[in-house]
Amino acid sequence: MITCSAPGKIYLFGEHAVVYGEPAIACAINLRVRVSVELVSSGKITINAMDKRANCSSEEFKYVCCAAKTIKQLFEKDFGAEINIRSEVPPRQGLGSSAAVTVSTIKALTESLGIELDNEAVANIGHKVENEVQGKASPADTFVSSTGGVVLVERAKTSHLARPDLPIIIGATGVERSTRDVIAFVSDLRKKYPSVVSDVMSSMGDITRLGEQKLAAGDLVSVGELMNINEGLLDSLGVCDVVLSKLIYAARTAGALGAKITGAGRGGSVLAIATAGNVDQVTQAMTKQGARVLTTTISSLGLHIEA
Ligand code: PMV
Repeated sequence: MITCSAPGKIYLFGEHAVVYGEPAIACAINLRVRVSVELVSSGKITINAMDKRANCSSEEFKYVCCAAKTIKQLFEKDFGAEINIRSEVPPRQGLGSSAAVTVSTIKALTESLGIELDNEAVANIGHKVENEVQGKASPADTFVSSTGGVVLVERAKTSHLARPDLPIIIGATGVERSTRDVIAFVSDLRKKYPSVVSDVMSSMGDITRLGEQKLAAGDLVSVGELMNINEGLLDSLGVCDVVLSKLIYAARTAGALGAKITGAGRGGSVLAIATAGNVDQVTQAMTKQGARVLTTTISSLGLHIEA
């Protein structure tokens, strides 16, 4: 049996805009998905993730099945496998659980088949899988989950940035949604108001570029302010809602440096950053609003084979 694990992620800047070629900054977080694979002679793919501890939704199954199908096609191999999933990343909450499941499955399957792939190659295959399951996807999620750290993504180009010492506070609403549906919603809005939505996306791109400079300078106050401006633009696209807004304002009122949705929105999670001394207040404020709060840090560890 081979077990691989990969981290979930948050977006500091640029979700949605990244689907249309603008830059985004995503960070791997210290919450991981683990996928174990055992090849079987029956030729069938079985996924075991139904018990509560698996923390996995049927949405993830689509990615696992598509990953197995893609490996069969790309490497002209026929196989059966028993696949076990365990996750610390709440599913369908904008925290990259699908990408983490996808790249862990690809790595565990290919290793089991004796195929050697580096993490970037796994990320590229994972991006194909996400495109197929979601209709549209940027390379951000699979790349950051495969390589870890802080990643600047622009079109097909990806590069690592220095890792800031930043407490990450996540408020998960528990409201599940499909990334595919939210991407389709934004795509329809863009078709209806092409110049308006393009301008919004391009402003998000400007925010990401400026955010990169502020991160490099260690200016977390400006990073927080830019996150707040980014949130205003996401709200203008209709991907925020009243539950998310309440969490965002609760975090800001409790002194967060910045707060915005992370991932596709319309449900899912809010991301707040705060000074080390303020993490407890922000956590309490979001908990009071009914969120499941996860406090974590940025992970430099990407996809790997577990011992
Ligand atoms: O909600 P998530 O974790 O699936 O993130 C989606 C982020 C988008 O920018 C909306 C789509 C993408 O593929 O980058």
